Amino acid sequence: MALVHEPDSRGDIDDREIRLREQRVGDESKQLQACANCHGPDGSGERYAAPYLAGQSAVYLANAIREWKAGTRHSGEKQMGPVVLRLDDEDIAALSAYLESLGEASH
Ligand code: HEC
Repeated sequence: MALVHEPDSRGDIDDREIRLREQRVGDESKQLQACANCHGPDGSGERYAAPYLAGQSAVYLANAIREWKAGTRHSGEKQMGPVVLRLDDEDIAALSAYLESLGEASH
């Protein structure tokens, strides 16, 4: 898994579009439900249902997702468990970075 982005293998625009799709509408080929379904448009959160994600630190977001994957986080695992199983390391890194950047943009 490449943590460092390699511009020659996959352009930034493509990558961003993939994250937008996963975040907003999900990915049917992976049976991945959109984050926005529960976390609100652009990860802004749904009161009493799911926390906001936009603008949170990418490290924090990625750690939370990895904890569910590893089975060490139990809070919210009913909702997040099936979601995180469908994310690979690259998805986690890219989605987390993308969600962090959404917060910066709205300041
Ligand atoms: C079926 C609803 C649902 C979907 C779809 C969903 N989430 Fe969640 N998510 C939740 C709920 C509920 C919580 C709160 C869990 C808890 O109690 O900690 C949560 C919490 C989180 C957290 C922890 C945030 C924090 O501050 O503790 C992260 C990170 C997260 N979700 C990322 C995502 C991402 C990325 C996606 C899309 C790939 C996604 N979620 C899709 C329901 C959902």
